[in-house]
Amino acid sequence: MPQNEFDFENRIVAPESINGDSDIEFSLRPKTLREYIGQPKAKENLSIYIQAAQGRDEPLDHVLLYGPPGLGKTTLAGIIANEMNVNIRITSGPAIERPGDLAALLTNLNENDILFIDEIHRLSRAVEEVLYPAMEDYSLDIIIGKGPSARSIRIDLPKFTLVGATTRAGQLTAPLRDRFGVLLRLELYSPEELCTIILRSAEVFGISCEYEGAMELARRSRGTPRIANRLLKRVRDFAQVIGDGIITRDIADRALSRLEIDSLGLDSIDRRMLNAIITNYGGGPVGLETLAAAIGEEAVTLEDVYEPYLMQIGFLSRTPRGRCVTISACQHLGVSVPDSIKPEEAEQLTLNY
Ligand code: ADE
Repeated sequence: MPQNEFDFENRIVAPESINGDSDIEFSLRPKTLREYIGQPKAKENLSIYIQAAQGRDEPLDHVLLYGPPGLGKTTLAGIIANEMNVNIRITSGPAIERPGDLAALLTNLNENDILFIDEIHRLSRAVEEVLYPAMEDYSLDIIIGKGPSARSIRIDLPKFTLVGATTRAGQLTAPLRDRFGVLLRLELYSPEELCTIILRSAEVFGISCEYEGAMELARRSRGTPRIANRLLKRVRDFAQVIGDGIITRDIADRALSRLEIDSLGLDSIDRRMLNAIITNYGGGPVGLETLAAAIGEEAVTLEDVYEPYLMQIGFLSRTPRGRCVTISACQHLGVSVPDSIKPEEAEQLTLNY
């Protein structure tokens, strides 16, 4: 059980990886671009760049994958390596503590290999400095000694491809961002795409899942394959115990209702946050810090974990004066629309027409 409601390590609709995800994800990971579902724009462009690089017998340009968590950035990095027929080394920004750690990784690569750095926005400045010449000239500048006798030596590196992934492209420094030749933005998946992913995962795991059952799961998975696969695993248990092992629409609905995940994938915490804005602050605007204090959570957690999806589905807006709920959020929650948010939205509607 979650120790507190906001403990997202245990939140079933968290897009971040939580305990138990890595095993499922590993066995489900598609190996080729053909098997990879969704992200048509990213996939088509990537396929061209891969073919072009292979045709020239060169490494692929450095690639930056960005977008919300749980959409398959690591999976895509693995596919790039597989399609290019090279090895991949997987690490993350916080894991590379010192410049020497990065130097060790780089010098151990083979020609054309891929170095995948997840959460690349979390690299320290000192480490980033090492990355610049490595990305640009495939070389490392190493300083030997200290003070006036210090000198710099240059080491050649194998030609490699850096694949960086981030949920916060805006936090990347300009010099780092500019060194990526290929920028690919991953978008939330449509329910139809998620449904295809769920049916594929069900087949891999030998779970019987009807199309309508998969579609119900898909609609409630917040556009995120990681959540869809997690829900599939949970709902399978319900199908086995309260049904006859087959995930039908009815079983999916009953299971997800028991897990308190509503028709749009909101959980009790999302609803509590929206209700707090409506009940305590007349629908907003309310400052992030004030809201966080009112529901007993840290502002950064609200901002990073809870707000993105609510904003994406148009239930929450960030205004210069604070957070506001929208009319559609009130309608979804079945509460009356507070007077304070009516005029603003009405104004917005007039402006749009
Ligand atoms: N599993 C998770 N994401 C996937 C995707 N985009 N395609 C296929 N299987 C997946």
